[in-house]
Amino acid sequence: MRLDELELESWGERIGIKIKTPAVIALQGRLGAGKSVLARAIGRGAGVTADMPSPSFNLLLRYSTSSGREVVHVDLYRLRSPDELWELGWSAIGQGNEILMVEWADRAGPFMPQDHWIIGLSAPYDDRSRRDIEIKRIGRPPELPSFRTSSLSK
Ligand SMILES: Nc1ncnc2c1ncn2[C@@H]1O[C@H](COP(=O)(O)OP(=O)(O)O)[C@@H](O)[C@H]1O
Ligand SMILES: [Mg+2]
Repeated sequence: MRLDELELESWGERIGIKIKTPAVIALQGRLGAGKSVLARAIGRGAGVTADMPSPSFNLLLRYSTSSGREVVHVDLYRLRSPDELWELGWSAIGQGNEILMVEWADRAGPFMPQDHWIIGLSAPYDDRSRRDIEIKRIGRPPELPSFRTSSLSK
């Protein structure tokens, strides 16, 4: 599936609205692939009203929402070793009422919560405004809404 930015954002918002917690989503792709764009859209859908700056320095930013769910946005690009995860409170992450989104989740090595989605984003070489989306299910994460490319996003 290939989505432009508005389509990706509207899918992300629907994920944020609909997904049951606890939910863990790994976002994979190179710099500029759209991981943060998708994470912010999911956060907005889940009810985050604050800005969601990049967590690349803090590594982890947490938001509460009026729906009672917690949105946790993690970017592990600057993680030097999976050992540093425990300083972030990793042992209890992605549980309860949390929607956890992890950019560069591969850097967590084997320490990603068991049940999660991996959403891979990549830019086709001949199309700078769209992204190819690849979805993998690991274990038994809660259902992810499917894409719907509506006329709204055209
Ligand atoms: N279809 C698309 N989906 C997501 N981002 C897109 C798309 N087309 C262009 N972009 C642009 O690509 C950039 C993605 O940035 P960002 O989400 O910060 O990447 P990452 O977090 O993966 O490093 C943004 O500048 C965005 O405007
Ligand atoms: Mg990012």
